[in-house]
Amino acid sequence: MKGNKRLLAAIFSLGCMLTAWAADKDVPLIQNVMGYESQSLNGAWNYIVDVQEEGYYDYRMNPTRWGFFQNAKPQKPEDLIEYDFDKSPTMQIPSDWNTQDEKLFFYEGTVWFYKQFRVDSSAFRGNRALLYFGAVNYDAHVYVNGQHVGHHIGGFTPFNYDVTDLLKDGENNVIVKVDNKRHAEDVPTQIFDWWNYGGITRDVKLVSVPAVYLEDYSLGLEKMKSEGVKSVKSRTISFSAKLNKAEAGQQVTLSIPELKIEKSFTTDADGKVNSQFSIVNSQLKKFQLWSPENPKLYQVKISMGANTVSDEIGFRTIETRDKQILLNGKPIFLKGISIHNEKPNGGGRANSVEDARTLLSWAKELGCNFVRLAHYPHHEEMVREAEKMGILVWSEIPVYWTIAWKNPKTYENAKNQLTDMISRDHNRANIIIWSIANETPHSPERDTFLGNLAQYARTLDNTRLISMAMEVTGASNYVNRLNDNMNKYVDVVSFNQYIGWYRDVNDAPKMKWEIPYNKPVIISEFGGGARYGLHGPKNQRWTEEFQENLYIENCAMLDKIDGLAGTTPWILKDFRSPRRVLPGVQDYYNRKGLFSDKGEKKKAFYVLKKWYEGK
Ligand code: GCU
Repeated sequence: MKGNKRLLAAIFSLGCMLTAWAADKDVPLIQNVMGYESQSLNGAWNYIVDVQEEGYYDYRMNPTRWGFFQNAKPQKPEDLIEYDFDKSPTMQIPSDWNTQDEKLFFYEGTVWFYKQFRVDSSAFRGNRALLYFGAVNYDAHVYVNGQHVGHHIGGFTPFNYDVTDLLKDGENNVIVKVDNKRHAEDVPTQIFDWWNYGGITRDVKLVSVPAVYLEDYSLGLEKMKSEGVKSVKSRTISFSAKLNKAEAGQQVTLSIPELKIEKSFTTDADGKVNSQFSIVNSQLKKFQLWSPENPKLYQVKISMGANTVSDEIGFRTIETRDKQILLNGKPIFLKGISIHNEKPNGGGRANSVEDARTLLSWAKELGCNFVRLAHYPHHEEMVREAEKMGILVWSEIPVYWTIAWKNPKTYENAKNQLTDMISRDHNRANIIIWSIANETPHSPERDTFLGNLAQYARTLDNTRLISMAMEVTGASNYVNRLNDNMNKYVDVVSFNQYIGWYRDVNDAPKMKWEIPYNKPVIISEFGGGARYGLHGPKNQRWTEEFQENLYIENCAMLDKIDGLAGTTPWILKDFRSPRRVLPGVQDYYNRKGLFSDKGEKKKAFYVLKKWYEGK
């Protein structure tokens, strides 16, 4: 009998090993997930704080087969199970754990999340079920009904798994192991000036798609030889689509009702469409370009068999000519502001339409036509709301400061995050710049890493501008020279400078600038800190008057920079940072905001607003 039991146990554990190693279910990110019917998995999730990852490793630090992902329950009175999701506390998802449980305010480590959900299999009959996460910071292992479906690294980009074969009729569960510990080889690396908010920070949904569905599509306006020519006879729209299977002969239909456009295309052997068509005559007369003044979006429907997805698409062109940025063929000055993805009041990861509308309305009030979404991709609603409000966007990946330039895994991680950022947002007309780095120290390894990344970005999207925030750290005889090898890889030369705060506090009026590249220039950061409500002489640091004077002097200095095409001062709103600890002034907030962490305007707000009015 004993021998049989041991044999059964061995067969069982082999079975578990095999299923646990069943191929993961990662599939390419579905384009425009908001355009699909889906079952939301937002809401209360149980969670277990697992400081020593007891739920993942055995006491020899080997991955265990009996981990929390099994959601095991005692079968007999003597059974030993030392966890129970059902009896564990709950937290509202999406959210960061830091602001949901005060014991987790500073916590960096693993937290397990558990969600039970019902599925009516008729909802998925013949369809596929994609489990979609808007973002999980930072390292996520995902399990459905005890089976490992995937491991995702990167805290700010979406991912999805095909879990169709794992779902049961009735009760199912999804379990996520989230670990936000920092490491030198990560992206970002182990130091960064923002709060390390951990958790399932954006929406979770179960998306129903046909067996063969539209995995991706792109719609955009081709540049004209010379924009702005009066006698335009036609405009060319490029359209591409990709099915999730390499199936030829599938019909894909594109309709833009307002322009009375209805076009059909047939997929090639790779399941792809790559085509262009013209807008002429009566259509052209009605055709409106997207711009900050007129953020025109067209209702677009794309159908393929049973799969119809609708989207809102704006048409515009973006390019550079010498030191100018041209939107729809006309020079534009980018009146911007930098923004972190943090709620408008009281901190925590921003993740709702309301968060987006509040932050963007503040930028509008400032007179902005442009925002730098720092230092990582923000939630999708932020980009889409900005598009509706006529606000152009600089979107970036967190290749920030001292990245492990020689580590191939770090490069792959950066590439993946760049791919996911562009994959999610490449149909948003208002995104004009993809940024690949911020304030990275010069070295041959860094130049190779970023040069490759810039070239890779262009293979994903050759319609937008590539940039990165370089840095100018000092002046000799009041002359600041930008000298960065990366200038040849970017379309727009951008750099941060902190004259008046980190250096040369009284010398902004004397400063000159030498930027020896015939490309547009964006000052991607300048500014200084102030505690809202702290007043005093303008030479006293941390007063609103000090910050106000810094903005007055910096704006006057920027007016003297040849080829300045825009700026995104640092920053719209005070934000949490573990690096800012001055009691009574910072209290773990970076105070460079023009708004306080409670949404109160500081005096410098009015300086920048006035300067933009004159632009
Ligand atoms: C840097 C960095 C920001 C940081 C800012 C500051 O330029 O890019 O992330 O918050 O300076 O020092 O406040």
